[in-house]
Amino acid sequence: MSFRIAARTILHLGAELISSDGIALYELIKNAYDARSPSVQINIVMALSRAAQRDTLDRIADTRENQLSPSAQRDLMLHLRQRCLESIDYSAPCARDVHKKLESIRTIDDLESAVLDANSISVIDQGEGMSLAILNDAFLTIGTRSKRRGKDAMNSDERQHTLGEKGIGRLSAMRLGDRLRVRTAQKADHRWNNLDIDWSAFSHASDALLEDIHLAARVGGQKASPETSGTEILVRALKRDWSRKHVEGIVQQDLAQINDPFESSLRFPITVRHNGEIIPIPRLEPWILKHYHGRCAGKFRRLPSRGLVFSGTMDESSGKTENFSYSEVELLSVARESHLAVDLSPEILHSLGPFSVEFYWFNRRKLTALDGVGDLTTVRDRLRPWTGGLLVFRDGFRVFPYGGGTMIGLIWTGRPSRAADTS
Ligand SMILES: Nc1ncnc2c1ncn2[C@@H]1O[C@H](COP(=O)(O)OP(=O)(O)OP(=O)(O)O)[C@@H](O)[C@H]1O
Ligand SMILES: [Mg+2]
Repeated sequence: MSFRIAARTILHLGAELISSDGIALYELIKNAYDARSPSVQINIVMALSRAAQRDTLDRIADTRENQLSPSAQRDLMLHLRQRCLESIDYSAPCARDVHKKLESIRTIDDLESAVLDANSISVIDQGEGMSLAILNDAFLTIGTRSKRRGKDAMNSDERQHTLGEKGIGRLSAMRLGDRLRVRTAQKADHRWNNLDIDWSAFSHASDALLEDIHLAARVGGQKASPETSGTEILVRALKRDWSRKHVEGIVQQDLAQINDPFESSLRFPITVRHNGEIIPIPRLEPWILKHYHGRCAGKFRRLPSRGLVFSGTMDESSGKTENFSYSEVELLSVARESHLAVDLSPEILHSLGPFSVEFYWFNRRKLTALDGVGDLTTVRDRLRPWTGGLLVFRDGFRVFPYGGGTMIGLIWTGRPSRAADTS
Protein backbone atom coordinates (compact mmCIF):
# COMPACT_ATOMS: atom_id res chain seq x y z
CA MET A 1 0.00 0.00 0.00
CA SER A 2 1.18 3.48 -0.71
CA PHE A 3 -0.44 6.91 -0.86
CA ARG A 4 -3.42 7.06 -3.13
CA ILE A 5 -3.78 10.43 -4.78
CA ALA A 6 -7.18 11.98 -5.45
CA ALA A 7 -7.37 13.35 -8.99
CA ARG A 8 -8.35 16.79 -7.71
CA THR A 9 -4.92 17.09 -6.05
CA ILE A 10 -3.64 18.10 -9.47
CA LEU A 11 -5.92 21.13 -9.44
CA HIS A 12 -4.73 22.10 -5.95
CA LEU A 13 -1.13 21.68 -7.02
CA GLY A 14 -1.58 23.91 -10.06
CA ALA A 15 -3.46 26.55 -8.09
CA GLU A 16 -0.88 26.61 -5.26
CA LEU A 17 2.11 26.81 -7.54
CA ILE A 18 0.97 29.26 -10.16
CA SER A 19 0.12 32.53 -8.50
CA SER A 20 -1.01 34.63 -11.47
CA ASP A 21 -1.85 34.52 -15.17
CA GLY A 22 1.48 36.24 -15.87
CA ILE A 23 3.42 33.50 -14.05
CA ALA A 24 1.39 30.85 -15.92
CA LEU A 25 2.48 32.34 -19.26
CA TYR A 26 6.04 32.74 -17.99
CA GLU A 27 6.22 28.98 -17.24
CA LEU A 28 5.09 28.13 -20.78
CA ILE A 29 7.55 30.66 -22.25
CA LYS A 30 10.31 29.13 -20.11
CA ASN A 31 9.52 25.70 -21.59
CA ALA A 32 9.83 27.12 -25.11
CA TYR A 33 13.21 28.62 -24.17
CA ASP A 34 14.35 25.32 -22.62
CA ALA A 35 13.35 23.57 -25.86
CA ARG A 36 15.93 25.82 -27.63
CA SER A 37 13.28 27.59 -29.67
CA PRO A 38 14.63 30.80 -31.28
CA SER A 39 11.50 32.68 -30.13
CA VAL A 40 7.96 32.18 -28.84
CA GLN A 41 4.60 33.43 -30.06
CA ILE A 42 1.60 33.89 -27.80
CA ASN A 43 -1.76 34.30 -29.50
CA ILE A 44 -4.78 35.28 -27.48
CA VAL A 45 -8.04 34.97 -29.34
CA MET A 46 -11.30 36.31 -27.90
CA ALA A 47 -13.74 35.67 -30.73
CA LEU A 48 -16.80 35.55 -28.49
CA SER A 49 -17.59 38.18 -25.88
CA ARG A 50 -17.00 36.91 -22.37
CA ALA A 51 -20.53 37.94 -21.31
CA ALA A 52 -22.17 35.87 -24.08
CA GLN A 53 -19.90 32.94 -23.34
CA ARG A 54 -20.61 32.92 -19.60
CA ASP A 55 -24.32 33.49 -20.03
CA THR A 56 -24.63 30.64 -22.55
CA LEU A 57 -22.70 28.21 -20.36
CA ASP A 58 -24.80 29.14 -17.29
CA ARG A 59 -28.04 28.63 -19.23
CA ILE A 60 -26.80 25.26 -20.54
CA ALA A 61 -25.98 24.17 -16.95
CA ASP A 62 -29.51 25.21 -15.85
CA THR A 63 -31.05 23.26 -18.72
CA ARG A 64 -29.25 20.11 -17.65
CA GLU A 65 -30.48 20.49 -14.07
CA ASN A 66 -34.08 21.25 -15.06
CA GLN A 67 -34.41 18.52 -17.71
CA LEU A 68 -36.28 20.49 -20.35
CA SER A 69 -38.43 18.75 -22.99
CA PRO A 70 -36.65 18.16 -26.33
CA SER A 71 -38.58 20.95 -28.06
CA ALA A 72 -37.93 23.45 -25.23
CA GLN A 73 -34.25 22.46 -25.38
CA ARG A 74 -34.16 23.10 -29.10
CA ASP A 75 -35.80 26.52 -28.74
CA LEU A 76 -33.34 27.49 -26.05
CA MET A 77 -30.43 26.23 -28.13
CA LEU A 78 -31.54 28.31 -31.13
CA HIS A 79 -32.02 31.38 -28.94
CA LEU A 80 -28.59 31.04 -27.31
CA ARG A 81 -26.95 30.35 -30.63
CA GLN A 82 -28.41 33.56 -32.06
CA ARG A 83 -27.12 35.54 -29.07
CA CYS A 84 -23.64 34.04 -29.58
CA LEU A 85 -23.66 34.76 -33.32
CA GLU A 86 -24.43 38.40 -32.51
CA SER A 87 -21.59 38.53 -29.97
CA ILE A 88 -18.79 37.41 -32.25
CA ASP A 89 -15.87 39.82 -32.58
CA TYR A 90 -15.24 39.58 -36.34
CA SER A 91 -11.81 41.19 -35.96
CA ALA A 92 -10.58 38.01 -34.21
CA PRO A 93 -8.50 35.75 -36.49
CA CYS A 94 -10.77 32.69 -36.32
CA ALA A 95 -14.10 34.51 -36.01
CA ARG A 96 -15.33 33.00 -39.33
CA ASP A 97 -14.61 29.47 -38.04
CA VAL A 98 -16.50 30.19 -34.83
CA HIS A 99 -19.40 31.54 -36.90
CA LYS A 100 -19.43 28.41 -39.09
CA LYS A 101 -19.23 26.09 -36.13
CA LEU A 102 -22.11 27.86 -34.37
CA GLU A 103 -24.23 27.68 -37.53
CA SER A 104 -23.69 23.96 -37.85
CA ILE A 105 -24.59 22.93 -34.30
CA ARG A 106 -27.50 20.57 -33.71
CA THR A 107 -27.55 19.96 -29.96
CA ILE A 108 -26.94 21.72 -26.67
CA ASP A 109 -23.71 19.70 -26.31
CA ASP A 110 -22.49 21.00 -29.70
CA LEU A 111 -23.31 24.53 -28.58
CA GLU A 112 -21.39 24.10 -25.34
CA SER A 113 -18.36 22.80 -27.16
CA ALA A 114 -18.44 25.61 -29.77
CA VAL A 115 -18.73 28.24 -27.05
CA LEU A 116 -15.90 26.74 -24.96
CA ASP A 117 -13.61 26.57 -27.98
CA ALA A 118 -14.34 30.08 -29.29
CA ASN A 119 -11.71 31.80 -27.13
CA SER A 120 -8.20 30.48 -26.75
CA ILE A 121 -4.60 31.10 -25.78
CA SER A 122 -1.83 29.42 -27.71
CA VAL A 123 1.85 29.39 -26.93
CA ILE A 124 3.82 28.32 -29.98
CA ASP A 125 7.50 27.53 -30.29
CA GLN A 126 9.84 26.14 -32.91
CA GLY A 127 11.99 24.28 -30.40
CA GLU A 128 13.02 20.65 -30.21
CA GLY A 129 9.45 19.46 -29.71
CA MET A 130 8.41 16.16 -28.14
CA SER A 131 8.24 12.68 -29.61
CA LEU A 132 5.22 10.53 -28.81
CA ALA A 133 7.29 8.75 -26.14
CA ILE A 134 8.41 12.02 -24.49
CA LEU A 135 4.87 13.36 -24.58
CA ASN A 136 3.55 10.21 -22.92
CA ASP A 137 6.41 9.94 -20.51
CA ALA A 138 7.98 13.30 -19.53
CA PHE A 139 4.96 15.51 -20.23
CA LEU A 140 2.57 13.23 -18.38
CA THR A 141 4.86 12.70 -15.39
CA ILE A 142 4.31 15.27 -12.67
CA GLY A 143 7.64 16.18 -11.14
CA THR A 144 9.44 14.73 -14.15
CA ARG A 145 13.19 14.72 -13.79
CA SER A 146 13.66 14.80 -17.55
CA LYS A 147 15.47 18.12 -17.52
CA ARG A 148 17.36 17.48 -14.33
CA ARG A 149 18.54 14.15 -15.74
CA GLY A 150 19.41 15.86 -19.00
CA LYS A 151 21.40 18.53 -17.16
CA ASP A 152 23.86 15.95 -15.82
CA ALA A 153 24.74 14.96 -19.39
CA MET A 154 24.91 18.55 -20.72
CA ASN A 155 27.94 20.71 -21.26
CA SER A 156 27.97 23.97 -19.33
CA ASP A 157 26.54 26.04 -22.21
CA GLU A 158 23.57 23.73 -22.57
CA ARG A 159 23.09 23.63 -18.82
CA GLN A 160 23.00 27.42 -18.68
CA HIS A 161 20.30 27.35 -21.31
CA THR A 162 18.03 25.05 -19.32
CA LEU A 163 15.92 26.72 -16.66
CA GLY A 164 13.33 24.08 -15.76
CA GLU A 165 13.97 21.44 -13.16
CA LYS A 166 10.94 21.02 -10.91
CA GLY A 167 8.83 19.20 -13.50
CA ILE A 168 5.61 21.09 -12.77
CA GLY A 169 5.67 24.25 -14.95
CA ARG A 170 3.24 22.97 -17.57
CA LEU A 171 0.54 22.58 -14.93
CA SER A 172 0.23 26.33 -15.33
CA ALA A 173 -1.85 25.64 -18.45
CA MET A 174 -4.70 24.51 -16.19
CA ARG A 175 -4.83 27.92 -14.55
CA LEU A 176 -5.56 29.49 -17.92
CA GLY A 177 -8.36 27.20 -19.06
CA ASP A 178 -10.05 23.82 -18.66
CA ARG A 179 -9.04 22.31 -21.99
CA LEU A 180 -5.49 21.74 -23.16
CA ARG A 181 -4.33 20.49 -26.52
CA VAL A 182 -0.64 19.90 -27.09
CA ARG A 183 0.57 19.54 -30.67
CA THR A 184 4.23 18.78 -30.93
CA ALA A 185 6.84 17.06 -33.07
CA GLN A 186 10.54 16.55 -33.24
CA LYS A 187 12.50 16.77 -36.48
CA ALA A 188 12.68 12.98 -36.69
CA ASP A 189 8.86 12.66 -36.52
CA HIS A 190 6.86 12.42 -39.74
CA ARG A 191 3.62 13.34 -38.00
CA TRP A 192 2.48 15.61 -35.21
CA ASN A 193 1.86 14.14 -31.76
CA ASN A 194 -1.27 15.30 -30.00
CA LEU A 195 -2.42 15.20 -26.43
CA ASP A 196 -5.79 16.41 -25.10
CA ILE A 197 -6.46 17.05 -21.44
CA ASP A 198 -9.80 18.12 -19.99
CA TRP A 199 -8.88 19.45 -16.55
CA SER A 200 -12.52 19.43 -15.49
CA ALA A 201 -12.19 15.62 -15.24
CA PHE A 202 -10.02 16.32 -12.17
CA SER A 203 -12.92 18.26 -10.68
CA HIS A 204 -12.98 19.23 -7.00
CA ALA A 205 -16.40 17.59 -6.77
CA SER A 206 -15.13 14.19 -7.89
CA ASP A 207 -13.67 11.42 -5.72
CA ALA A 208 -11.85 9.84 -8.65
CA LEU A 209 -8.30 8.74 -8.06
CA LEU A 210 -5.52 10.05 -10.22
CA GLU A 211 -4.88 6.65 -11.83
CA ASP A 212 -8.57 6.41 -12.87
CA ILE A 213 -8.23 9.28 -15.32
CA HIS A 214 -6.62 8.01 -18.49
CA LEU A 215 -4.67 10.29 -20.75
CA ALA A 216 -2.80 9.20 -23.82
CA ALA A 217 -1.00 11.03 -26.57
CA ARG A 218 -1.90 10.10 -30.18
CA VAL A 219 -0.19 10.47 -33.51
CA GLY A 220 -1.84 13.22 -35.57
CA GLY A 221 -1.58 14.72 -39.04
CA GLN A 222 1.47 14.86 -41.25
CA LYS A 223 4.02 17.67 -40.76
CA ALA A 224 4.24 20.17 -43.60
CA SER A 225 8.02 19.81 -43.88
CA PRO A 226 10.44 17.23 -42.46
CA GLU A 227 12.52 20.05 -40.96
CA THR A 228 9.65 21.27 -38.78
CA SER A 229 9.84 20.81 -35.05
CA GLY A 230 8.18 22.58 -32.15
CA THR A 231 5.26 22.69 -29.80
CA GLU A 232 1.90 24.39 -29.68
CA ILE A 233 0.15 24.59 -26.32
CA LEU A 234 -3.48 25.47 -27.03
CA VAL A 235 -5.70 26.34 -24.08
CA ARG A 236 -9.47 26.66 -24.43
CA ALA A 237 -12.45 26.96 -22.08
CA LEU A 238 -10.63 29.98 -20.65
CA LYS A 239 -11.20 30.80 -17.00
CA ARG A 240 -11.45 34.55 -17.39
CA ASP A 241 -11.93 37.43 -19.75
CA TRP A 242 -8.70 37.93 -21.69
CA SER A 243 -9.48 41.51 -22.68
CA ARG A 244 -6.82 43.57 -24.41
CA LYS A 245 -6.42 45.51 -21.15
CA HIS A 246 -5.71 42.33 -19.16
CA VAL A 247 -3.14 41.24 -21.74
CA GLU A 248 -1.47 44.68 -21.74
CA GLY A 249 -1.21 44.51 -17.94
CA ILE A 250 0.53 41.11 -18.11
CA VAL A 251 2.85 42.29 -20.86
CA GLN A 252 3.93 45.29 -18.75
CA GLN A 253 4.10 43.60 -15.38
CA ASP A 254 5.52 40.19 -16.28
CA LEU A 255 6.59 39.66 -19.86
CA ALA A 256 8.56 42.92 -20.29
CA GLN A 257 11.03 41.77 -17.63
CA ILE A 258 11.61 38.20 -18.83
CA ASN A 259 14.61 39.31 -20.91
CA ASP A 260 17.44 41.05 -19.06
CA PRO A 261 16.69 44.77 -19.68
CA PHE A 262 20.37 45.71 -19.59
CA GLU A 263 21.30 43.55 -22.56
CA SER A 264 21.27 45.41 -25.86
CA SER A 265 19.53 42.67 -27.82
CA LEU A 266 16.70 40.40 -26.75
CA ARG A 267 17.91 36.94 -25.87
CA PHE A 268 14.51 35.39 -26.31
CA PRO A 269 12.06 37.31 -28.52
CA ILE A 270 8.45 37.04 -27.38
CA THR A 271 5.54 38.10 -29.59
CA VAL A 272 2.11 38.61 -28.07
CA ARG A 273 -1.00 39.06 -30.20
CA HIS A 274 -4.51 39.85 -29.03
CA ASN A 275 -7.11 39.09 -31.67
CA GLY A 276 -4.33 39.23 -34.25
CA GLU A 277 -2.92 42.60 -33.18
CA ILE A 278 0.57 42.73 -31.76
CA ILE A 279 0.75 44.02 -28.18
CA PRO A 280 4.17 45.69 -27.95
CA ILE A 281 6.38 44.60 -25.09
CA PRO A 282 8.09 47.63 -23.53
CA ARG A 283 11.90 47.75 -23.48
CA LEU A 284 13.96 49.62 -20.92
CA GLU A 285 14.30 53.13 -22.34
CA PRO A 286 17.77 54.74 -22.21
CA TRP A 287 16.50 57.90 -20.44
CA ILE A 288 15.57 55.79 -17.42
CA LEU A 289 19.22 54.98 -16.79
CA LYS A 290 20.13 58.68 -16.90
CA HIS A 291 17.52 60.14 -14.55
CA TYR A 292 17.94 58.05 -11.45
CA HIS A 293 18.29 59.51 -7.96
CA GLY A 294 20.64 56.79 -6.85
CA ARG A 295 22.52 53.95 -8.50
CA CYS A 296 24.53 51.02 -7.28
CA ALA A 297 26.63 48.66 -9.35
CA GLY A 298 28.69 45.86 -7.93
CA LYS A 299 30.30 42.51 -8.60
CA PHE A 300 30.68 39.42 -6.52
CA ARG A 301 33.76 37.45 -7.62
CA ARG A 302 36.82 35.58 -6.51
CA LEU A 303 40.07 37.56 -6.81
CA PRO A 304 43.34 35.58 -6.72
CA SER A 305 44.82 38.03 -4.22
CA ARG A 306 41.82 38.56 -1.90
CA GLY A 307 39.49 35.58 -2.20
CA LEU A 308 35.74 36.30 -2.38
CA VAL A 309 34.92 39.98 -2.70
CA PHE A 310 31.74 41.98 -3.27
CA SER A 311 32.72 45.45 -4.47
CA GLY A 312 31.29 48.30 -6.47
CA THR A 313 30.13 51.91 -6.55
CA MET A 314 27.16 53.91 -5.34
CA ASP A 315 26.28 57.18 -7.08
CA GLU A 316 23.77 59.83 -6.15
CA SER A 317 22.22 62.16 -8.71
CA SER A 318 23.87 65.04 -6.76
CA GLY A 319 27.24 63.75 -8.04
CA LYS A 320 28.34 62.09 -4.79
CA THR A 321 30.10 58.77 -5.39
CA GLU A 322 31.18 56.12 -2.93
CA ASN A 323 33.06 52.88 -3.49
CA PHE A 324 32.48 49.81 -1.36
CA SER A 325 34.30 46.52 -1.00
CA TYR A 326 33.43 43.66 1.33
CA SER A 327 35.68 40.68 1.99
CA GLU A 328 34.30 37.22 2.75
CA VAL A 329 34.54 37.78 6.52
CA GLU A 330 32.78 41.15 6.23
CA LEU A 331 30.01 39.70 4.06
CA LEU A 332 29.34 36.96 6.60
CA SER A 333 29.21 39.48 9.42
CA VAL A 334 26.90 41.88 7.50
CA ALA A 335 24.59 38.94 6.69
CA ARG A 336 24.50 37.94 10.37
CA GLU A 337 23.64 41.48 11.47
CA SER A 338 20.95 41.80 8.77
CA HIS A 339 19.10 38.69 10.04
CA LEU A 340 18.70 37.24 6.55
CA ALA A 341 16.15 34.47 6.12
CA VAL A 342 19.01 32.21 5.00
CA ASP A 343 21.85 31.58 7.39
CA LEU A 344 24.71 32.65 5.15
CA SER A 345 27.52 30.21 5.82
CA PRO A 346 30.99 30.19 4.24
CA GLU A 347 29.89 27.03 2.34
CA ILE A 348 26.93 28.88 0.75
CA LEU A 349 29.14 31.83 -0.13
CA HIS A 350 31.71 29.55 -1.77
CA SER A 351 29.01 27.71 -3.71
CA LEU A 352 27.97 30.94 -5.48
CA GLY A 353 29.24 31.69 -8.96
CA PRO A 354 30.30 35.24 -9.84
CA PHE A 355 27.45 37.67 -10.44
CA SER A 356 26.92 41.35 -11.01
CA VAL A 357 24.24 43.63 -9.66
CA GLU A 358 23.04 46.95 -10.97
CA PHE A 359 20.18 48.82 -9.48
CA TYR A 360 18.63 52.22 -9.86
CA TRP A 361 16.68 54.12 -7.28
CA PHE A 362 13.97 56.61 -8.15
CA ASN A 363 12.41 58.88 -5.56
CA ARG A 364 8.76 59.04 -6.53
CA ARG A 365 8.40 62.49 -4.99
CA LYS A 366 11.32 63.91 -6.94
CA LEU A 367 10.14 62.65 -10.34
CA THR A 368 9.39 65.46 -12.78
CA ALA A 369 8.24 65.92 -16.37
CA LEU A 370 11.13 65.29 -18.75
CA ASP A 371 11.91 66.88 -22.10
CA GLY A 372 11.68 64.27 -24.83
CA VAL A 373 9.73 61.86 -22.58
CA GLY A 374 6.60 63.66 -21.47
CA ASP A 375 4.71 65.03 -18.48
CA LEU A 376 4.94 63.57 -14.98
CA THR A 377 2.18 61.02 -15.63
CA THR A 378 3.96 59.78 -18.77
CA VAL A 379 7.28 59.55 -16.93
CA ARG A 380 5.64 57.50 -14.15
CA ASP A 381 3.84 55.24 -16.67
CA ARG A 382 6.99 54.53 -18.65
CA LEU A 383 8.95 53.80 -15.48
CA ARG A 384 6.32 51.51 -13.98
CA PRO A 385 7.25 48.22 -15.73
CA TRP A 386 10.72 48.47 -14.22
CA THR A 387 9.70 49.14 -10.65
CA GLY A 388 8.61 46.84 -7.86
CA GLY A 389 11.79 45.42 -6.40
CA LEU A 390 14.95 43.62 -7.36
CA LEU A 391 14.65 41.49 -10.46
CA VAL A 392 16.94 38.50 -10.68
CA PHE A 393 18.23 37.20 -14.01
CA ARG A 394 20.14 34.03 -14.63
CA ASP A 395 22.01 34.07 -17.90
CA GLY A 396 19.80 36.84 -19.18
CA PHE A 397 16.46 35.19 -18.31
CA ARG A 398 14.27 36.35 -15.44
CA VAL A 399 13.96 34.13 -12.38
CA PHE A 400 10.69 34.53 -10.52
CA PRO A 401 9.38 35.34 -7.93
CA TYR A 402 11.95 38.00 -7.00
CA GLY A 403 10.90 41.52 -7.88
CA GLY A 404 7.30 41.60 -6.72
CA GLY A 405 8.06 43.70 -3.62
CA THR A 406 7.16 47.23 -2.74
CA MET A 407 10.43 49.05 -3.45
CA ILE A 408 10.54 51.03 -6.63
CA GLY A 409 13.19 51.37 -9.23
CA LEU A 410 15.61 48.63 -8.33
CA ILE A 411 16.96 46.32 -10.96
CA TRP A 412 19.38 43.49 -10.35
CA THR A 413 21.17 41.43 -12.89
CA GLY A 414 23.06 38.37 -11.85
CA ARG A 415 24.94 36.22 -14.28
CA PRO A 416 26.62 33.37 -12.50
CA SER A 417 28.73 31.34 -14.84
CA ARG A 418 30.88 28.28 -14.51
CA ALA A 419 34.29 29.88 -14.50
CA ALA A 420 35.22 32.25 -11.70
CA ASP A 421 35.67 35.81 -12.88
CA THR A 422 39.20 36.74 -11.93
CA SER A 423 39.47 40.05 -13.71
N1 LIG B 1 7.44 23.65 -25.22
C1 LIG B 1 8.01 22.46 -24.96
N2 LIG B 1 8.87 21.89 -25.84
C2 LIG B 1 9.47 20.71 -25.58
N3 LIG B 1 9.27 19.99 -24.44
C3 LIG B 1 8.43 20.49 -23.53
C4 LIG B 1 7.75 21.75 -23.71
N4 LIG B 1 6.96 21.98 -22.63
C5 LIG B 1 7.15 20.94 -21.80
N5 LIG B 1 8.02 20.04 -22.31
C6 LIG B 1 8.45 18.75 -21.70
O1 LIG B 1 7.60 18.51 -20.59
C7 LIG B 1 8.36 18.42 -19.39
C8 LIG B 1 7.59 19.04 -18.26
O2 LIG B 1 7.58 20.48 -18.37
P1 LIG B 1 7.45 21.33 -17.04
O3 LIG B 1 7.51 22.77 -17.36
O4 LIG B 1 6.25 20.86 -16.29
O5 LIG B 1 8.70 20.89 -16.18
P2 LIG B 1 10.24 21.33 -16.33
O6 LIG B 1 10.36 22.36 -17.37
O7 LIG B 1 11.01 20.05 -16.49
O8 LIG B 1 10.53 21.95 -14.89
P3 LIG B 1 9.90 23.32 -14.24
O9 LIG B 1 8.72 22.89 -13.44
O10 LIG B 1 11.01 23.81 -13.36
O11 LIG B 1 9.54 24.21 -15.37
C9 LIG B 1 9.68 19.10 -19.68
O12 LIG B 1 10.71 18.58 -18.86
C10 LIG B 1 9.89 18.80 -21.16
O13 LIG B 1 10.43 17.51 -21.32
MG1 LIG C 1 9.23 24.13 -17.34
